[in-house]
Formats: sequence, structure tokens, C-alpha cells
Amino acid sequence: MQVTAVYPGTFDPITNGHLDIISRGVRLFDRIIVALLQNSDKEPLLPLAERMEIVRAVVARFPNVSVESFDGLLVDYARSRGAQAIVRGLRALSDFEYEFQMALMNRRLEPGVETVYMMPSEATSYVSSRLVKEVARLGGDVSGLVPGEVVARLKARYRVRDRS
Ligand code: PNS
Repeated sequence: MQVTAVYPGTFDPITNGHLDIISRGVRLFDRIIVALLQNSDKEPLLPLAERMEIVRAVVARFPNVSVESFDGLLVDYARSRGAQAIVRGLRALSDFEYEFQMALMNRRLEPGVETVYMMPSEATSYVSSRLVKEVARLGGDVSGLVPGEVVARLKARYRVRDRS
């Protein structure tokens, strides 16, 4: 049996922590679909098309990883793609409550899809998209925390913002 997993998120932007989870996931699953939420109430910094382009570029080295976007319920999307699992990274205790609620709600909605949590490497366990954006916005160095493509995009985006 081929096992497909969906790795959902906002990826605004994708970090080395997300990539760490993907690189662990490809060892467990036959196929991973990185799924970017289209309409997030988080008001992302980077437009969906740009986030998808970045994610596509950085996962190109994994032959069994594809990138898509979705809207509506995650479990409906997972079912439509024939996925048996949802993958999420779990960093610290602070992630736990939200992830716990989400996993149980998703299970209630669709018992056929199992949520699988993976711990990222210690080196990336404190990295979040939110902190990366804050540091980049304030002129700090985020290289090493995000892929090179992201460093350049964040710099460009904040330069445009500062000018306007
Ligand atoms: O990277 P994020 O922002 O933590 O990802 C959150 C995401 C996209 C996984 C979550 O918001 C989601 O699944 N949204 C889709 C709507 C949905 O299914 N909501 C019910 C989840 S219990």
C-alpha cells in the first residue's frame, strides 16, 4: 500500500524547521503533499503564489514531495487527495495545546486520516515563521534559519514596505 501524507500549513515563510520535518517525512511516507492554506485569517506577509513558488523551489530535491494549495477543511482536502496521514511538526510545549485540539478535531471529522507529529532537529526547534519575520523586519540576520530563497525574498519585501 502506498501511503500519502499531507503536510499542511501557512508557510509564511517556509523555515528550515519545516524542511527538517519534510526530510524526516520522506523517509516514512511514499508521498508527501505540502499543502498551503489559501485563505488564512493570519493575513500572510507573502502572497500565496510567492509562498508556493518558494516551497516548490526548496522541495525540488525530494522526488516524492509535491506542493499544492487548499481551501476549506483540511480533512476534506486530505480525503480528496487519498491521503492517510496529516503530518505536523511539534516544537515545544507551547505548540502542544493547539496541535492536540486540531488533531482530535480532525480525527472526529475524519477518523480515516491519522495525524502524525514529528519533532524537528534541536537546531531548528526554536525557529518559527513568526519570529523569522520579526527578525527580518527589524534588519536582523535570518540566514541559517530559512532557505536562501527566503532570505532574499524577505529582504526584498521589507525593502518595498519601508519605501512605501
Ligand atoms: O502553519 P499553520 O498556520 O499552523 O497551519 C494551520 C493549518 C493550515 C494546518 C490549519 O489552520 C488548518 O488546517 N486549516 C484548514 C481549516 C480546517 O480544517 N480547520 C479545522 C482544523 S481543526
